[in-house]
Amino acid sequence: MLLTGTGRLAPAGRSPWAIQVIDGRIAWIGDPGRAPPDEDRHDLGTALVTPGLVDSHTHPVFAGDRSDEAAARLDGAPYTDGGILRTVEATRLADDATLAALVVSRLRSALAAGTTTVECKSGYGLSTEEELRHLRVLRSVAASLPLRVVTTFLGAHAVPPGTTLEDYAATVADEMIPLVASEGLAEFVDVFADLGFFDLASTERIARSASAHGLGLRLHADQLARTGAAELGVRLGAASVDHLEQLDPTGVAAIARSATVATVLPAPAIVLRDRLPAARALLDAGATVALATDANAGTYGGFGTMPLVVGLGATLLGMTASEALTAATAGGASALGRPELGRCEVGAAADLVAWDAEHEGAFALTLGAMRPLRTWIAGVEVRI
Ligand code: NIG
Ligand code: FE
Repeated sequence: MLLTGTGRLAPAGRSPWAIQVIDGRIAWIGDPGRAPPDEDRHDLGTALVTPGLVDSHTHPVFAGDRSDEAAARLDGAPYTDGGILRTVEATRLADDATLAALVVSRLRSALAAGTTTVECKSGYGLSTEEELRHLRVLRSVAASLPLRVVTTFLGAHAVPPGTTLEDYAATVADEMIPLVASEGLAEFVDVFADLGFFDLASTERIARSASAHGLGLRLHADQLARTGAAELGVRLGAASVDHLEQLDPTGVAAIARSATVATVLPAPAIVLRDRLPAARALLDAGATVALATDANAGTYGGFGTMPLVVGLGATLLGMTASEALTAATAGGASALGRPELGRCEVGAAADLVAWDAEHEGAFALTLGAMRPLRTWIAGVEVRI
């Protein structure tokens, strides 16, 4: 297949351009006049074309509604683990089919808004049986949709009632992780390593089990308090440390010196009226930055809003439009350990989106009101 355009191929900014796709990968990129012969040609005119967006942080497996809690917080109530526990109760009552339908609708919204790879966490089960059930639901949903799904086990999202932090961390590390790994239900383990949730010692214990079982690590770090979870993630070789609202210059420098990706999530920071993560400082220090939605039950419910998140990166977080787009494509792919995704280059996966816009500045200009005209995943056009 040969795709051509007289518009902009971003973030590199090539124009005019042609891309040949063979076996789901980009085989050639160059000037349309020099394109190899191909009978399957599609001209995309002046449309902005980008890599498919990579949303490297979402929590889609839940039932129930906590919009009342969002209103109460805006009226002064604090954010506590009570919210997550409320979602856990509602989710335990939802049968597999109900839960699967909710996840399908959330991931379809993401795909319709240009996300071609999505990371999905469990974490509203908090018992061995429920966490495994949620991961199995995710696996069946992933098999039914064209977008790429990367699965993360977040059993350590909150401590369930009736147990202690130490006992629950031991259950996550010694009982849940071995089962998740042996059933091949997740690629990564995540921990909500924050004040009032999992302390550094229990986080490290869980991370050591993840690594012993061949699973990658990512952390919710330095969101609510500056606990040093970002540095712990760096020390343990986490693929990504996420949130970072309370990060200070020492933390910025530690991440920048490492291979760990800094994933910033502007949407929940706004909804919680929190500090914004220091994306500009991280980029200036040389860190790899990813932008993701963090769509979840309690602090930001916007599934299918990656274009808005790119716009927030380019406005509120002080990134250029091109940096924000890169963070939402190649940055997210790096955070997921998938360097073949999120890039318009020879050898990369042919995951591409043609937008109803002409320049990546439209992500900032429209703040989320951009829509894909056409989407390809592994070179196959997706009908949404
Ligand atoms: O990423 N910070 C931890 N977990 C979610 C919120 C989960 C919830 O409140 O339901 C987040 O913001
Ligand atoms: Fe999260």
